[in-house]
Amino acid sequence: AAAPLIDPFARPITYLRVSVTDRCDFRCVYCMAEHMQFLPKAELLTLEELDRLCTTFIGLGVRKLRITGGEPLVRRGIMGFFRNISRHLGDGLDELTLTTNGSQLGRFATELVDCGVRRVNVSLDTLDADKFARITRWGRLQQVLDGISKAQEAGLRVKINAVALKGVNDDELFDLVTWCGDQGHDLTFIEVMPMGDLGNEDRLDQYWPLSDLRNQLATRYSLVDLAERTGGPARYVRLNETGQKIGFITPLTHNFCESCNRVRVTCTGELYMCLGQEDRADLRAPLRSSEEDQPLRDAIRAAIARKPKGHDFDYSRQTVSGQMTRHMSHTGG
Ligand code: GTP
Ligand code: 5AD
Ligand code: SF4
Repeated sequence: AAAPLIDPFARPITYLRVSVTDRCDFRCVYCMAEHMQFLPKAELLTLEELDRLCTTFIGLGVRKLRITGGEPLVRRGIMGFFRNISRHLGDGLDELTLTTNGSQLGRFATELVDCGVRRVNVSLDTLDADKFARITRWGRLQQVLDGISKAQEAGLRVKINAVALKGVNDDELFDLVTWCGDQGHDLTFIEVMPMGDLGNEDRLDQYWPLSDLRNQLATRYSLVDLAERTGGPARYVRLNETGQKIGFITPLTHNFCESCNRVRVTCTGELYMCLGQEDRADLRAPLRSSEEDQPLRDAIRAAIARKPKGHDFDYSRQTVSGQMTRHMSHTGG
């Protein structure tokens, strides 16, 4: 077998996030601009090319594959892609999963299970329909809740991702926790990162450190730190009273970069070595230049050899620094 991918900081790269489309049926304020210029279809890698790319990474030791977007389930033909990729499960690949806004889960949940998907991460910041429509700019909360139910009925484990936003969903902390507990979903909070055009939305004003959130939780529950990880950046606690699991993704208060195990590919075949840095490598050219996989493998290795130490996001001096003008939707988080 090929030598595994190890970056300059001795971190093994075993987790690939693949954005299969830049499009989305929502426009979450911290993720996209209201008016996005989407890529012409001709720019996109075909699903066959994406498959070949994933297969090459699996050959290089990637064991976890997360499909993202935009919204991955709006890409035409995406179920065929999942079905094809699932051939690697148990044969190199440990986990095939996706991060979704949930709007299309009603349609696709059963088929996803059929393709070997066992759990999904669903973005949901609020249980208030008006607030949901504001955050997503027009999304219908009920459609997402229905999708989540369908996913659960189909046998998928659901993890809810909530971006923690002061002045937006901080009043719903206990509602979200209780709802997830009742429904049997895990719940992970994410610190908002300064990406995209910050324009009139001030990330600094909305920034809600998860250390605060954790302290609030501790007023009502006893929290037990868990050693277990899911292969991503989240740290988990268990709430003793209910037994439910709560995750914290803390790029700002606790930089988790030292244990980074992941890279990202966009739908045009750009490999981003770090979410919080601009450096990237073009994989489309080596993918298209040859039927042989060697040029592609070489390009991947060369890119991993310059993976940066981490991101520079920082609000601690009461200003935003390390900011990226690139939208989060470009790399799918
Ligand atoms: P699990 O498999 O459940 O652990 O999922 P995950 O946390 O790896 O994936 P998910 O798509 O749920 O990621 C949640 C969010 O965490 C992402 O959308 C990003 O906002 C953030 N995140 C994930 N990885 C990184 C990273 O390497 N750096 C930074 N700054 N943020 C990250
Ligand atoms: N900061 C933190 N998380 C973000 N997400 C999107 N934009 C941001 C941001 N600026 C989250 C979404 C979704 C995941 C893909 O990334 O809520 O759960
Ligand atoms: Fe779409 Fe997800 Fe970005 Fe919201 S966070 S706009 S649902 S890709």
